[in-house]
Order: sequence, then C-alpha cells, then structure tokens
Amino acid sequence: MKHTRKTRNRWEDHYSRRAKQEKYPARSVYKLKEIQQKYHLIQKGDRVLDLGCAPGSWLLYAAEQVGHKGYVVGIDLKLVTVRLPSNVKVHEGDVFSTGDEVLAFTGERFHVVMSDMAPATTGNSHVDSARSFNLSETAFVIAQKVLVPGGSFICKIFQGEDFSRFSALVKASFKTCKNYRPKSTRKASKEVYVIGIKKTGQPVS
Ligand SMILES: C[S@@+](CC[C@H](N)C(=O)[O-])C[C@H]1O[C@@H](n2cnc3c(N)ncnc32)[C@H](O)[C@@H]1O
Repeated sequence: MKHTRKTRNRWEDHYSRRAKQEKYPARSVYKLKEIQQKYHLIQKGDRVLDLGCAPGSWLLYAAEQVGHKGYVVGIDLKLVTVRLPSNVKVHEGDVFSTGDEVLAFTGERFHVVMSDMAPATTGNSHVDSARSFNLSETAFVIAQKVLVPGGSFICKIFQGEDFSRFSALVKASFKTCKNYRPKSTRKASKEVYVIGIKKTGQPVS
C-alpha cells in the first residue's frame, strides 16, 4: 500500500523506514552505527554487554561487529522477540537488581558495556531526566564491575540537571570521555550519549 502523509505513523521517518528494509527491529540501530563509525569501540572477538537491549537492534548490530569469535549479552525488562544469531544471549531482568547476575550469567568480563536504556517518560522533564540519570548511573556501576581495564562504555542519558554530574563520573574513570549526539537522534529528543574510552584502573569486585 502506498503511504500518504496521513496514513503514515507520525513517528515514521527515513531511519525507521530504513530499519524495516534492513530488518532491524528499531531505528535506534543507526545511533549505535554512527557511534561505531566515529569511535570504533567494538572490535572483532569482543564480549559486549547491552543494557536495555529490547527490541534488539543494537544486539543484532553488535553481533555483526564482534563476529563469530565474540559474543553479545543483553538485558531488558522486556522480552526480545526477534530471531537472534548464535553469538547473542538475552537475560530478562531489571538492571536495578541484576548487577551481579550479569557476571554470574557469563562468567567473563566485557570489552564494551553499552546502555540505550530509557525510562518510561512522564512528560515532566525534571522527573524524566532524574529517572534517566538513575538508569545511567546504574549502567555506570555495572560497567565499573564488569569491564576489562581498557574497555569502553556507551551510555544514553537525557540532558538535565544531572547531566554534568554523570559526565564527570565517566570522565574520572576513563582515559577519554566524549558527549555525542548522533544525527539519527530525533530532533525533539533530549538524549545524548556519554562515551567513556579506555577504562582506567582495576575492575571493582
Ligand atoms: C530505547 S529502548 C532500547 C532499544 C535498543 N537499543 C534497540 O536498539 O533495540 C530502551 C529499553 O530500555 C529498557 N529498560 C528501561 N529500564 C530498564 C531497567 N530498569 N532494566 C532493564 N531494561 C530497562 C526498556 O525496557 C527498553 O526496552
């Protein structure tokens, strides 16, 4: 059926149409693709942890990047229903209560921890950015525990009062810290990715 402006979903855009054509379940894949093309953080053979992985487009893209010698582990409150390659495992759970389970689940440390987690939004920007900060801070604590020294961290956060506090946390634990807003981010969105490159020090046990 030919879509007219009226029949198209109001959220559909170039990226969501492209995601459908390329068989990714969400347009968010292009944000990770832009991050990877700019910073090359995921290498062949890497172990990658994806926090907030549903519906699964980052899982699929990261699995392509690590190849058959690497693997990707995802965690989400929601079930991932897309067909996943054999180098991807998913754990259904809440990051607020699964920190240590992640290590027990795989038994190994990760080269990259990425979080695209987003809270259920209320429309109140103070509440939404505080919830986003809580998720990002939890992702950071997990990354501190499970990343190898020299590993990288990619974390979405809504810009708000706590943004600079979060950025400072990442800056203190990684050799380089960048704030990056991919072109594929929706214009109305307040999200930005804080990227920590080369974790310094020993993992916290
Ligand atoms: C924007 S989506 C992630 C999209 C994903 N990167 C992809 O490309 O398919 C955000 C996800 O964060 C998850 N999430 C939010 N809070 C969470 C929590 N406390 N624990 C685990 N996942 C959570 C949501 O269930 C949602 O699936």
